Order: sequence, then structure tokens, then C-alpha cells
Amino acid sequence: MKRILPVDELARDTRFQRINIEEVVFDPRNAVRDDRSQRNAFKPTDPEAPDASRQLMHGIFVGEIQALEGAGRTCWDFDTGDGRDEAPFQLKLDMARQCWDESRHVEISVKLTEHMGTEIGEFAEQTMLYEAACNPDPVLRLTGVNRALEGLAIDVFNTMRDFGKATGDPVLEFCEDWMLADEVTHVKMGSDWLRRLTADDPDRRKAALDFQRAVDHLFSFGGLRGDDEENPIHLAKKFRRLAGFTDDEITELVDVAAQAFAEAQARSAAAASS
Ligand SMILES: [Fe+2]
Ligand SMILES: [Fe+2]
Repeated sequence: MKRILPVDELARDTRFQRINIEEVVFDPRNAVRDDRSQRNAFKPTDPEAPDASRQLMHGIFVGEIQALEGAGRTCWDFDTGDGRDEAPFQLKLDMARQCWDESRHVEISVKLTEHMGTEIGEFAEQTMLYEAACNPDPVLRLTGVNRALEGLAIDVFNTMRDFGKATGDPVLEFCEDWMLADEVTHVKMGSDWLRRLTADDPDRRKAALDFQRAVDHLFSFGGLRGDDEENPIHLAKKFRRLAGFTDDEITELVDVAAQAFAEAQARSAAAASS
């Protein structure tokens, strides 16, 4: 079996359709709407709430598949050891445990998408998570995937759990709550391994945090995540702290989200005036 499997060789059947994340971020139809009161599609009163939650749930489902694939590859892609291009055995054990969790999340997500009236493949799949999991440095995989993307999963699951509660859907509420608990563990693994493996290597730590920041920036697209009422996804600060984020890192994330939001508004204004 080859090491570092390219993204286009992932096993998918004909139901799955690929899309680049750039097509999502830079699609003017996804630009920030001028009427800010209409922006948060996760208010149960919003007419778009059912479709917005189905689309997000499908995105979670494909993300769970890729999280399983990424954690599995990290067990396989590296020799066991403490070198920069190796992975310690304990880290591989953590990734193996994560595979177990992500397999369960895939099964939960399939049932939840059906519960919400969605078929597999009804929405496109973007593969940014798996691509971040192809980084040749295991520490960068753990910052890009576990800290940035599964950190986002914490925010998303927290929001979806509240949405399930607000709409009187206990199936959605409890499924999201259970997956949220696992994601806190996965993000904590990322935080712990980042600090452990870069304790004596400030350059490697900086590279890992820069990679995390780049992924966070990309996934704050269109004002999806932020600290305001209008942002559909809010930062779940309590769970982020449990997952090893410092208060300074949480503040920085708010800034990254605000910057991405401002850029999306500028793109929207440019699209409107052209
Ligand atoms: Fe997961
Ligand atoms: Fe996870």
C-alpha cells in the first residue's frame, strides 16, 4: 500500500461529486448578504434553516469520512520514531483511537442525513480536510486537521446541537452532543502533540501554527464563523479551552474570523458593483 495517497485516489462511488473549496469561497452566490438580519440561516425562524442545516450536515458527513481517512493515513504514512518525518508510536495509537471515533461518526452522520431527509451525494464534497491530512510533517497534519478543522467541528457541532434543541429535534441534539464530546478529545490530541513535539523546535512550532492559521482563515469563509449574532457558527469557547486552546489563541481565532468576514464583504461589494 502506497504512502501519502493523493486526494484523487480516494475511494468514492458514483454518488459523490467533488468540488474545490475555492469554488465555494469565491462563488458570489455565497457572498455575504447586505441584509444582515437575514444572514444567520441557523435561526429556526429563518426560511432557509432546513436546507442550510441539511447542507451543513452533509458537509459534516463527508468531513467525517475524510477525518477517518486522514487519521488512518497518519498511522501508515510515517515510520515510527521521534524524527521530523516520523511519528511516535503513542501518536499512532491516538490516531488509531481517532479512526475508531470517526468510523462511528460516519455511521451517525449517514443516519442523521437520512433523518433530515437528505441522500448521500445530494451536496458536493470538498476535500480540504483530507488534503490538510496529506502534509508531510505529522505535526502540521495535527495542527491543520485536529486543531483547525476539528476545532471548527467543535463550533459546528455545538451550533447544530443548539439548533436541534431549538427546533425540538432530540435525535439531532443528542447525536451532535456525543460527536462534540469526541471532537474535544481529537482537538486536545492536536494541542498536546503540537506542544510535545515542538517543545525544543520553535521553527517547527511556528510552521505548524502558520499552517493552522491558513486553514482557519480559509474555513472562516463568508462570515460563516464569528462572534456576532449574525454569524451562523459561533466559537464554542468553553469547549475550545477544554481542547487545549489558550485564551490568546481563542482571541486570535476571533480576529482571523473577523478578517475573513471583512474580506468576504469586500468581495460581495465588488461583485455587486460590477
Ligand atoms: Fe468526527
Ligand atoms: Fe474528529
